[in-house]
Amino acid sequence: MSDQHEEGHFCRTAGEKIMFSDAIIQSIKKAQQRYPDQQSAVLPALHIIQKEYGNLSYEAMRFVSQQLRVPESDVFGTATFYSLYRWKNPGRHQIQICHNLSCSLLGAETMIAHLEKKLGVCEGQVTKDGRFSFIRMECIGRCDGAPAMLVGDDYHGELTPEKIDEILKKYE
Ligand code: FES
Repeated sequence: MSDQHEEGHFCRTAGEKIMFSDAIIQSIKKAQQRYPDQQSAVLPALHIIQKEYGNLSYEAMRFVSQQLRVPESDVFGTATFYSLYRWKNPGRHQIQICHNLSCSLLGAETMIAHLEKKLGVCEGQVTKDGRFSFIRMECIGRCDGAPAMLVGDDYHGELTPEKIDEILKKYE
């Protein structure tokens, strides 16, 4: 589902086409060939993009995930774990909301649409006051509490739109 919050910008959904240069794609392919498993190529791939753009973005993470066929959650975990990577304007509180099977079956898309409306931003953007940014995750390992999300390191499950509103109030 897509929605428009800013002139000329549409909220992205999973699988939207991402544009990176041929030079970057070739460099990532070379990095892939140097490693027996794709997971090991995540670090060099992120480095290649950061070298070109000066920092990483949500689009970069998804691009690496698609190119290497490594789960987004793994790429995101790597990119946020190492301090040598710089993120482009993250919000003070990063929301990671799951849209994988269990959460989808129990309303993840409704929760994501609610977040977009409530925060007035699309996935990967930062709210005007800098408080929040949010991204979709493949699974945050709490399928028993679906639909679920993380705000920073804090887990919140069995989400409803009303519950999300209450949760967001706790973060300044
Ligand atoms: S599918 Fe949503 S937490 Fe696992």
